[in-house]
Amino acid sequence: MNKERLWNRLHELSQYGKDPIAGHTRFSFTKEERMAKDLTAKYMLEAGLEIREDAIGNLIGRKEGTMSDAPAVLIGSHLDSVPQGGMFDGPLGVLAGIEVLQSMNEREIVTDHPIEVIAFTDEEGSRFQFGLIGSKAVAGVLTEEDLQRSDQNGITLGQAMKENGFDPLRFKEAARDPKTVKGYVEVHIEQGKVLETNNLPIGVVSGIAGPLWLNWKIKGEAGHAGATPMQLRKDPLVAAAEIMQDIEEQSKKYTNAVATVGKISIKPGGVNVIPGEVEFTLDLRDIDESVRDTIEKTIVANANKICSKRKVELEVTTLQRVAPVPCSPEIREVIEHACSQSGVKAYTMPSGAGHDGMQFKDFCPIGMIFVQSKDGISHNPAEWSTK
Ligand code: GLV
Ligand code: MN
Ligand code: MN
Repeated sequence: MNKERLWNRLHELSQYGKDPIAGHTRFSFTKEERMAKDLTAKYMLEAGLEIREDAIGNLIGRKEGTMSDAPAVLIGSHLDSVPQGGMFDGPLGVLAGIEVLQSMNEREIVTDHPIEVIAFTDEEGSRFQFGLIGSKAVAGVLTEEDLQRSDQNGITLGQAMKENGFDPLRFKEAARDPKTVKGYVEVHIEQGKVLETNNLPIGVVSGIAGPLWLNWKIKGEAGHAGATPMQLRKDPLVAAAEIMQDIEEQSKKYTNAVATVGKISIKPGGVNVIPGEVEFTLDLRDIDESVRDTIEKTIVANANKICSKRKVELEVTTLQRVAPVPCSPEIREVIEHACSQSGVKAYTMPSGAGHDGMQFKDFCPIGMIFVQSKDGISHNPAEWSTK
């Protein structure tokens, strides 16, 4: 591979979607994302790939193999980011895929199977509160209801597609026949500290933890902060506080479970106004689906008790429920073998973060390669890795 070229492209691409405060904010179907996609398409052409964009906006570069109609090996990741995220989460996997194919073309390496690099639309879910949109479409599991999901300005996914020149009625055309796909691989920064702490270069991913996203809406009664005695209040925010504490407590009972409240809104939101309504999100994950679902049941049951005691109304809705996914033993073996041939120590580890490959659980075998994240920091402007 040409390390310099990959490194330079990572930096060039990172110019698009720079957040005015810090890091990168590059949401799907925005000007910033379009510019990042156009630059990526240029790299794909430089790599000698045949490019196309599918019906959901996935950007695809293909290198043909010698066997006509043989299923393709997919290499992918995403170009969108979380709010104020870093420059490696996503772009590294896309650009590494392009680099692999460009290096192969330069050395005139021909494979039997075609290989495709895919930059998936909206992996992070930051805009429409559910992610893996492009990979969902490829796996044929994106639905018409999904197109109705809206961003914080009320723009639906379908409308955003339209504004960007895509016909939402044709989203199903992005779905692929599993017979045309041989497998999926992705390179990603680890987003944790295991590799760095143990001075290991490569992680071979054993499986990916499944995120469950819930939206919690609690309705109470807005009132005067000075004139309403404490015992007469129906304050949804204190109920939320109690629920959040319970979420932490229940999750800590399990070694691998992680729970995060990352968004909250308080209405109407005045210093001297008792809140009338509170909404917050929960991201709950475990590598073991039954553990995750047990925690979910417990915290929802406890929350119902907390809310009825406090005389406030609770409504919990599911934003996304993704099953944990094991990586293919065959692909893991191939990666381990490649590592041992190059004298690189490979370390087997699970992924706590979600990735596009999760959507291919029942579609094709998947595998992932992790590289170090500096200080384990990710979803943060300080996200870093070394050349
Ligand atoms: C994606 O980065 C996720 O795991 O939420
Ligand atoms: Mn991410
Ligand atoms: Mn990612």
